Amino acid sequence: MSTHINSERLTASLDALGRIGAYLDEASGLTGVRRLAFSAEDGEGRRHVVAEMKAAGLEVTVDRIGNVFGRRAGREPGARPVMAGSHIDSVATAGRFDGCLGVLGALEVVKALNDAKVTTRRPLVVAFFSEEEGARFGTDMLGSAVAVGRIPLERAYALSDRDGKTVRAELESIGFLGDAPTELPKLHAYLECHVEQGPLLRAANMDVGVVTGVQAICWHELVISGRSAHAGTTPMNLRADPGMAASRVQLLLRDLVRSGRFGDQLRATMGVTQFFPGLVNVVPNRVVATVDIRHPDDAVLRLAEAELVEHYARIAAEEKVTLTHRQTARTPDISFAQKVRALVAKSASARGLKHQDIVSGAGHDCQELAKHCPAGMVFVPGEYDGISHNPREFSTPKQCADGVNVLLDVVTALAEEEGP
Ligand code: GLV
Ligand code: MN
Ligand code: MN
Repeated sequence: MSTHINSERLTASLDALGRIGAYLDEASGLTGVRRLAFSAEDGEGRRHVVAEMKAAGLEVTVDRIGNVFGRRAGREPGARPVMAGSHIDSVATAGRFDGCLGVLGALEVVKALNDAKVTTRRPLVVAFFSEEEGARFGTDMLGSAVAVGRIPLERAYALSDRDGKTVRAELESIGFLGDAPTELPKLHAYLECHVEQGPLLRAANMDVGVVTGVQAICWHELVISGRSAHAGTTPMNLRADPGMAASRVQLLLRDLVRSGRFGDQLRATMGVTQFFPGLVNVVPNRVVATVDIRHPDDAVLRLAEAELVEHYARIAAEEKVTLTHRQTARTPDISFAQKVRALVAKSASARGLKHQDIVSGAGHDCQELAKHCPAGMVFVPGEYDGISHNPREFSTPKQCADGVNVLLDVVTALAEEEGP
C-alpha cells in the first residue's frame, strides 16, 4: 500500500488550477482566483481537471447538473465505491485552496495509488460538484444538493444570476450539461479534505482537524422598496428610505449576536447591499441586500431567524418602506459519521500529526453527501488567521500534504472494507 502522496506534485497541481481565472486583486495587490460557477473560467478549470483525471486513468462522467465524476476501477467492480472530492468553483475574490484542495487532493491520492500500483477492493471516485459556493446563483452546495435529492433538478436549472442567466443555459454554454442521471449511486463513504477557512487550528498549533460536522446556515435576500427623492431638499420626516432600513437591519444583526440570547456562537453577516439608483444625491428607491446567519445548533438558528423576521417587519413599518425577504439557502447542522471521524483521527495519530476535533463554520458538499452515506472531512490549517474567500488564503505545502496524506489513509482503509 502507498504510504505517502507526492507533495511537490500536489503543490504544482494547485498552482496550475490556481492560474485559471487568476486576477489581480486591486485592494491587496495579490493574485486571486475568480471562477464563478459556469463562467468561462469555470469551464476552463473544469476542462483542465477532467484532462488531469483522464491522465490519471479515470473514467469521467458528467451528470445533468454538471457534477463531474472520475472513476478508478476496484478489484471488485460490484462493490460500492468510496468517493472523495469537493468543488472547483469559487467566490469572486478567492484564493487557490478552497475546494480545489479536496478535488486535487483526491486526484493526488489516485496518482499515489497508481505510482504504487495498488488497486483497492472498492472502486474510487474523484468528484467535483457544481456551484458549491452559491456565489453566482444564490444557493450554496447546489450540485451536491441536487445529487442527494434536496433540490429538484428543474428548480436548480431555473435559478438565475443577477443578469438573468439561468443555471441550465450557463451549464450548456460551457459544455458541462452532462447526460448522466443526477442521482448518486450507492456509495460506501464520502471524504473531503478542505482548508479550515478560519483561525482555530493554526492558533492551536494543530496539523489537521477532525471535522465533527457543519453548523446550520440560513441565507436571506431582502428587497426593500421606498421612494426616491432629492437628497438636499427632501425633509428627513418625508422620506421612505430603503437604505436606512437596510442599515438598521445590519446593525440589528450585530445586536442579535451581542445580546448573547443565542449563545456566543451566532454569526451574522450582510454581504451584499445594492442601492438603486445608487447616486450620491438621490435617496434610493430600492435596496437589495443579503443576510447570512449561522449557528452550530439548528434549533437556535431557527429562533434567531424567527426573531430577525419580526424585526424586518418592525423596521419596515418604522421606515415607511416595504421589505420582502426570501430564504435562498437553508441547511441544518450536520454531524459526520463516527466511523469516518475515528479513521481521520487514527491516521493523524499514526502519522504523528497533532489533531483536534472541529466544527466547520463553512458549508461543504460533504454535508450533503452525509445524507447519502457515511461521510467525513479532514481540515487543513490556514496561515494569516486562516483567511479565506480572499486572495491571501494560504496553506503551506506541508499543511496541504498532511491533510491529503490523511485523506489517502482514510480512503484506502475504507476502500478495503468488506461488504456490499
Ligand atoms: C461556503 O463557502 C460557505 O460556507 O459560504
Ligand atoms: Mn469550499
Ligand atoms: Mn468557499
